[in-house]
Amino acid sequence: MTTHAVAFAPGRANLIGEHTDYNEGLALPFAISEGVTVRASPLPEPRIEAVAVDLGKRDTFSLTDVERAGGWRGFVRGAAGELLGAGLPVGGAVLEISGTVPRGAGLSSSAALEVALVLALLCVSGVAEPDRLELARMCSRIENDWVGAQTGLLDQISSLFGEANHALRIDFRSLDVRPVALELGGCRLVTLDSGEHHANVSSGYNERRAECARACVELGVASLRDASVADADRLPDVLRRRALHVITENERVEEAVSAVERGDMPSLGRLIDASHASLRDCYEVSTPAVEAAVSRLKRAGALGARIVGGGFGGHVLGLLPDDAVAPDDAVEVRPGDGARVSRS
Ligand code: GLA
Repeated sequence: MTTHAVAFAPGRANLIGEHTDYNEGLALPFAISEGVTVRASPLPEPRIEAVAVDLGKRDTFSLTDVERAGGWRGFVRGAAGELLGAGLPVGGAVLEISGTVPRGAGLSSSAALEVALVLALLCVSGVAEPDRLELARMCSRIENDWVGAQTGLLDQISSLFGEANHALRIDFRSLDVRPVALELGGCRLVTLDSGEHHANVSSGYNERRAECARACVELGVASLRDASVADADRLPDVLRRRALHVITENERVEEAVSAVERGDMPSLGRLIDASHASLRDCYEVSTPAVEAAVSRLKRAGALGARIVGGGFGGHVLGLLPDDAVAPDDAVEVRPGDGARVSRS
């Protein structure tokens, strides 16, 4: 195929700040070097022909009336449907999709796919890229409305705004994105696969989000960003623990930013451990396989280790001193640049 546009969108890791994005909270993620590439070439007819190279599967659909579909096809149709719905005149194209970020593993393969699809479709259609926050919202609607996972904006903002050597402090209330230089003096970050994979649409993710919404109704607040620990203590159990996680996680993000800025790795490690304990005990998104992966990193000498992403399986992230020997299957991760697209 003659390629006319190549878009690459990275996955992400998250230093800290989990399940805070849909609660107008704070997070400190970074884009990683693995991601999804979409090569696009134009078609004269209003039709998309998509090939998922890694899955060996194809999909063809009309742009005049984009119909829904399940699995990876839902993302492609959602990307085209959302762009058209926003009044952006995307045209027919052949799309070749391939990726290096593991799927369903907590490293945001879904957002990488959405972002790469949207950028490739815009570029091959000769349509100027809208504001990146607008793109993040559009990609999140693909996931919410076309795929059915009620996820927030963490993954899409990380993929679109990533910066080499920086984490991003994101405030999901103001949508302020501030790069924070990630110098880990004497340490490195690794990810380790728990071996258990998940899909946000079928895990307990949507249920957690609904529980947070119920906690807000009970407390009479617009979001858990407005709630305090004392407020959470007035809630019935389960909702109380869900709210406590979110409220204390926001505090840990602020403390982690300051630990990173002063190069205090032991404190950063303690915050990562505390985040994991809260996700396990209050938010209840850990599993035995995840606990085993966290323990392996801790035994290897990690200053901190925790689950990343939606939970219920996936990868764990560890902060390891340079002289500690990582498990053989651990992979070092460094903050990389955000999504990019080029014409050819
Ligand atoms: C998934 C979702 C994000 C975020 C995380 C948990 O990755 O896609 O929006 O909620 O889980 O922090």
